[in-house]
Amino acid sequence: MVWLTGLSGAGKSTLATAVEAALIRAGHAACVLDGDNLRHGLNADLGFSPEDRRENIRRAGEVAALFADAGLIVIAAFISPYRAGREAAREAIGAARFLEVFLDAPLAVCERRDPKGLYRRARAGEIAEFTGISAPYEPPEAPALTLDTAREELAVSARRIVELLAARGFLTGEAPPGETEVR
Ligand code: ADX
Repeated sequence: MVWLTGLSGAGKSTLATAVEAALIRAGHAACVLDGDNLRHGLNADLGFSPEDRRENIRRAGEVAALFADAGLIVIAAFISPYRAGREAAREAIGAARFLEVFLDAPLAVCERRDPKGLYRRARAGEIAEFTGISAPYEPPEAPALTLDTAREELAVSARRIVELLAARGFLTGEAPPGETEVR
């Protein structure tokens, strides 16, 4: 499981989709779970308070663990701003199969991109508790990989993640390291 964390606009969903496509092309079963799609359904009852984000990430981690148990490589794309929340996801899936990837794009770049116009609305005070503006983001302390998505091309970042998966033994077609018993 690849867990992408970073600010809104850092490119998590775009990168997750690119990695998924590359894995499927290479014959691996892969799927994307991201905040925007999970929040439409399963997590539609949650907002952006610290408690709701914790619950959002808890459910995401549990769903991702089920998918991973089913044999899929899961690429999760959530801001997941709190270290404690990401650690809970790591525990839900098992540390041996959890690869934390930090999309380290500066706030100024994400804000300039502002693909959904949310930073502008957050600055105008129309959205409360917006990550990077009025809510915290705690960067990972020891991610498996850090990507400078402000500078690096999408295809290069995607390839580095596929290479990380390969280096950790997840693309052999055999039982990956840390595979748990069927639950
Ligand atoms: S998380 O913090 O709980 O991990 P998640 O990744 O699911 O967040 O959802 C983030 C997406 O919700 C953003 O990309 C953005 O489109 C939208 N969003 C709406 N309100 C906020 C907010 N207050 N803070 C951050 N993102 C928000």
